[in-house]
Formats: sequence, structure tokens, C-alpha cells
Amino acid sequence: MNNINFVRVDNIDDFAIVSADFFSDFLKKNDNPLVILPTGFTPLPFYKEIVKRYKSGEKYLNKFRYLALDEYVGLADDDYRSFSSWLGKEILNPLSIDSKDRIIFNSNADDIDKECKRIDDIVSENVIDLAIVGIGENGHIGFNEPKSSFSSRTRKVLLHEKTIKANAEYWGGIDEVPKEAVTLGLGNLKEAKNTLLLVSGKRKAEILRKSFCAPVSEDIPSSYLQNQPNLTVIGDEDALAEIIF
Ligand code: GLP
Repeated sequence: MNNINFVRVDNIDDFAIVSADFFSDFLKKNDNPLVILPTGFTPLPFYKEIVKRYKSGEKYLNKFRYLALDEYVGLADDDYRSFSSWLGKEILNPLSIDSKDRIIFNSNADDIDKECKRIDDIVSENVIDLAIVGIGENGHIGFNEPKSSFSSRTRKVLLHEKTIKANAEYWGGIDEVPKEAVTLGLGNLKEAKNTLLLVSGKRKAEILRKSFCAPVSEDIPSSYLQNQPNLTVIGDEDALAEIIF
């Protein structure tokens, strides 16, 4: 296992502050980096803190290019459930990130495989400076569900039942959740120069243990992180409870 920088925080306020400090230091040291940002409930306090700092004058906090991690398939651009709308609302619009600096999936593309290839080519031609990711309770990263190949590229996937159930919490019911999605592959994510995993809450404790304290296996997609260079994990006590330091 590579050297992993585990940062344990006491509460959600600290989670937001420590994550925002990490991001702010990163932007000070890197010129216009390409950054992946995740959706989900976990990063919301972090986004709120970044937006607060930006509005209070830390204008360098928008000096990055954004790369989408994943997206549902078949939604109109302005559908409230699309991940690009979600992240637009939570962080990209408040930071005034220009649309030319947002590399996002066209969820509604006629040919979704071609769309995945378009994004995959962009990723191959660029360096991912920082991948900020969350984790699903089954170990999915982005929408790389269990048994995804560690060398997988950007592609269309079918969401697992557990993931659909988890995502139903965002939109108020299972019927609201699209059943297909597109995602950067683990092969893409492995190329990131730096990775930050954000994790909070008791319900992530078990998968965190399986990710870092069990053998690396495609049954647990997140276990690729064990061999990821320059990985920082910021988590609260509940989420990190089963990790033995
Ligand atoms: C979603 C997203 C992931 C996210 C994960 C965890 O399905 N595709 O990118 O990291 O679930 O979400 P949450 O933070 O709400 O637990």
C-alpha cells in the first residue's frame, strides 16, 4: 500500500474547513489545474465553505478547470437531477467558472458511446491534477460499480440496485433515478496526479475498512486507492472508525 495521508476531523464544521484548506493550498501551488469534483451529500459542506471564502474575497478559488466525474444518461441539460446542474448550483456557478472551463458529459447525446469517447479523449490528452471523489456504500467511485475493471475507461454503465436506492435520497424516490449513467473509468482515475477522498458518516465506516484494510480487488472498486499516489483521505470519526492506524 502507498503512503496514505488520513486526516481525521472531529465534526462536520471541521470537515468543511479542513477540506477547503486542502483545496485552497492546492490551488495556490498549481496553475489552473484540472480538477474533478464529485456530487453527493458528502462534499456539500466543503462546497459551502469554498463559496463562502470566495465571496469574502479569496478570488483565486475559482482558478481551476472542472472535469465531470459522472452523469446520469438521458437527462436534458437543465434537468434538476443532472449532475452538471447540481454541481453548477452548489459550486461552479457561485464561483463563476466559465462554461469553457467545464468539461461535462452531454447526458442526452444521440450516441452516448461516442460521447464517452469524446470525454475519454479529453482526459487522455490532459493531466488530471486533482481528483476529488466520494465513495458509495458498495465501494463505487464515480459510477464504477463492483467488478469494474481497474483499467476501465469512460463508458456507459447500468447502476446497481443499491446505488439507485442510495441516489433516491437525492431526488425523493427510486422512480426519479435514471437507471443508466456515464462515468470516468477507474483507469482514468488512476492517472490522477493527486486524489482526495471525502468521506463522512457511520454508514461509510464498513466500506472504508474494506477499501483500505482488505486485499485490493475489483469487487471493491475503491480498493484501487490503496495504490494511488498522493492520496489524502479526509474523514470524520464515524467514517474512519474501522480503520486501524
Ligand atoms: C453517488 C455518486 C458518487 C458519490 C457517491 C456518494 O452515486 N455517483 O460520485 O461519491 O454516490 O454519495 P454521498 O456523498 O451522497 O454518500
